[in-house]
Amino acid sequence: MLLNLARQRRVLFFGGKGGVGKTTMASAVAVMAAEQGRRVLLVSTDPAHSLGHLWGRRIGPHAVPLMAGLDGLEIDPAESLESHLEQVGRSLRKLMPHHLAGEVDKHLARSRDAPGIHEAALLERLAQTLIDGMQQYDLLVFDTAPSGHTARLMALPEMMTAWTEGMLRQRERSDKLGAALHGAGGAQDMAARIIGKGDQILTPAQRDDTIRSVLNRRRERFVVLRDVLADTQRTGFVIVLAAERLPVLETIEFEGQLRRAGVPVAGLVVNKRMPAQAGDFFAEKQQQEQHYLAQLREALPQLPVEEVVLQRLEVAGEDGIRALAGMLRAE
Ligand SMILES: Nc1ncnc2c1ncn2[C@@H]1O[C@H](COP(=O)(O)OP(=O)(O)OP(=O)(O)O)[C@@H](O)[C@H]1O
Ligand SMILES: [Mg+2]
Repeated sequence: MLLNLARQRRVLFFGGKGGVGKTTMASAVAVMAAEQGRRVLLVSTDPAHSLGHLWGRRIGPHAVPLMAGLDGLEIDPAESLESHLEQVGRSLRKLMPHHLAGEVDKHLARSRDAPGIHEAALLERLAQTLIDGMQQYDLLVFDTAPSGHTARLMALPEMMTAWTEGMLRQRERSDKLGAALHGAGGAQDMAARIIGKGDQILTPAQRDDTIRSVLNRRRERFVVLRDVLADTQRTGFVIVLAAERLPVLETIEFEGQLRRAGVPVAGLVVNKRMPAQAGDFFAEKQQQEQHYLAQLREALPQLPVEEVVLQRLEVAGEDGIRALAGMLRAE
């Protein structure tokens, strides 16, 4: 299953609970695809730089070559937030008269702590990485954080439309209030004070158009991201898990969440399976795993499952990842 995904898809996401082997599997699949001659970009959004640790080298926010045909990149959430705020600041300054630039800076300083802003910045960077990466690479492999963002991510374009329209409506109301306070010319007067292009005064309609186009450009990026996520021909979402009671239950739930959000899961990787013929202690553990695996297959009969045996040594470095990829390819 993983080899087919590595050969055929354009975008793969690896998700699942903490420590199950997402970074390892994403790396092994990226290696398999590169060994097939595809140009591959491996992307992580983990602030802990786990991709760099696994490969035993520094990676960072710009693509670096990991092996022939494979580049790696770590999206840095803190740096994403800074550049997001910088972009928002630039857009706002264009819309405001010069003497209000100080207000923009105050607004941005407050935004730094606003709920959801880190996630928005990260998702925007993720969307941009996807859009740029699709032009340059045959396959993008995303190692995602162990949380439920992905389902929420799908609702972002709609949320942003509602938000844009809500903001414009709120602004209309404040124009009306301005008109009431300042008499007939009030709305125009308010508009002049709130927003102008440099010192040129925009009419409320021009201003709305400008705001809309700034917000719509961001929205477009999320639309592309959502369309790619929902496209089962090009994209595959893989859940990695262990054959244990809670991970199996959570995987069944996670698959449902993703399906309802419009992201069908392409396959499951049951990682770190106990090896056969490894003594009584492991035989019992293996039997218990069989039980949970049966439960998983019964709940999600439509999904391909790939089992990966626990390796004797921790997977680490290019050699370790290539050895694991070789094993997956042989199966
Ligand atoms: N099949 C395997 N056999 C042996 N060790 C493995 C196997 N798969 C993963 N590991 C090891 O398990 C550890 C955790 O793997 P990994 O970092 O890929 O998990 P993760 O899901 O990305 O974790 P996090 O949620 O923290 O990002 C690593 O040390 C890795 O080398
Ligand atoms: Mg990881």
